[in-house]
Amino acid sequence: MKHSFRGLIALVFSLIALVFSAGCDTNTRMSTFDTKGPIAEAQLDLFMVTIWVSLFIFVLVGAVYIVAMFKFRERKNDDRPLPVQGHGNPLIEIALIGASILLLVIVAVPTLRAIWYTHDFPVTEESKLGAWYQGEGLSVAEEDKPLTIRVEGYQWWWGFAYPQLGITTANELIIPAGKAIRLELRSKDVIHSFWLPRIAGKVDLIPGRSNGMWIQAGDSIEDWQAKSGATGSDEELRAAYARYLQEEIHNYYYGQCAEYCGDSHARMLFRASVVSDDDFASWVSEIKTGHQAPDGMAWEEWYATNDESPEKLTGDINEGLQLFMSRGKCATCHAVNGNPRAVGVAGPNLTKLASRQSLAAGWLNHRAEDGSVDVEQQYANFFKWIKEPDTVKPGNLMWKANGGGIGELDELLTDDEIHKISLYLQTLK
Ligand code: CUA
Repeated sequence: MKHSFRGLIALVFSLIALVFSAGCDTNTRMSTFDTKGPIAEAQLDLFMVTIWVSLFIFVLVGAVYIVAMFKFRERKNDDRPLPVQGHGNPLIEIALIGASILLLVIVAVPTLRAIWYTHDFPVTEESKLGAWYQGEGLSVAEEDKPLTIRVEGYQWWWGFAYPQLGITTANELIIPAGKAIRLELRSKDVIHSFWLPRIAGKVDLIPGRSNGMWIQAGDSIEDWQAKSGATGSDEELRAAYARYLQEEIHNYYYGQCAEYCGDSHARMLFRASVVSDDDFASWVSEIKTGHQAPDGMAWEEWYATNDESPEKLTGDINEGLQLFMSRGKCATCHAVNGNPRAVGVAGPNLTKLASRQSLAAGWLNHRAEDGSVDVEQQYANFFKWIKEPDTVKPGNLMWKANGGGIGELDELLTDDEIHKISLYLQTLK
């Protein structure tokens, strides 16, 4: 009997350990314990203070409880008198109140400090756009301001606009390493919440108002120098700082909507690529330029041919684009920079879609281990998403708008048509 009881206890504890170890995912793209920015770091520090204080209270109270339980429990034929009772002992009561206040203060001081720190945007010379952005399209009025990104929440995807640079993208945020960036958070429908666990979080996106936060991937040069204790000439320091950003910060991070927002809330993910200043500038320039018509045609020429004798536009890519513009109705909701007639705003902007490493707000992944795009997987994801958007992301608008495979039976896109649209989309890189 005793034996089987011990076995049961061991089983229960193993099961509990198993449940807890499920939280130990070695994929750290979303870990708040492996921080890559000052905001996430401040939040982690605060978390650790709270954990230690709570653990201290837990152990202390638990120990007193266990001692009391064993020492004073009733035994057989117990004729011991009641132990002396402590009610109303002023010394004990004041000490307990004092200890509670002290512990609360230990938690409150760093909490307030962290709240202020994450609230106040750090104005530094390094973070001003004019100090690091060498690309095109920046007005003089904006040079003294930090980079601002307008984050827009939709059911269930993310829009990222860079108003100072005149570009918009979706679901994959591209940011320069080591720069403080201002985020303006808005929602187009219900409440969402921006959370990029290793870098910063969480602030709600609320309909009808604009919330703000700032994020930064990696330390600023001053903070990095203070932490690493690096010394040397200005040039050497800059080179070492660039190396630190390159080796430790440039990466691909996962984000997630952190506020329940309807059917596909759990599939409202996003990604963030942290890149060098140069890569950021060339990305902006590519987004601005957008895409050419297939076969190196000018857009006017392509549309003239398409309007007059569409049968002359042959090949899967041309046919895919024709479907994209007409029967597939894609351009009603989606914009593709460069293409003068694809200017929809109800859905994600698709400029450079094929360079993104995921689809459907991060839910369908086609990023290869080495960080490149897995082209076969990408094709499969495009096909799946167009054919059955409702199973990929239940309740989404593309499905409701009769986009892709869903709709009246006689309007369904055939597999061959979906194949051609997918091939066309793969040229948007
Ligand atoms: Cu958006 Cu949850």
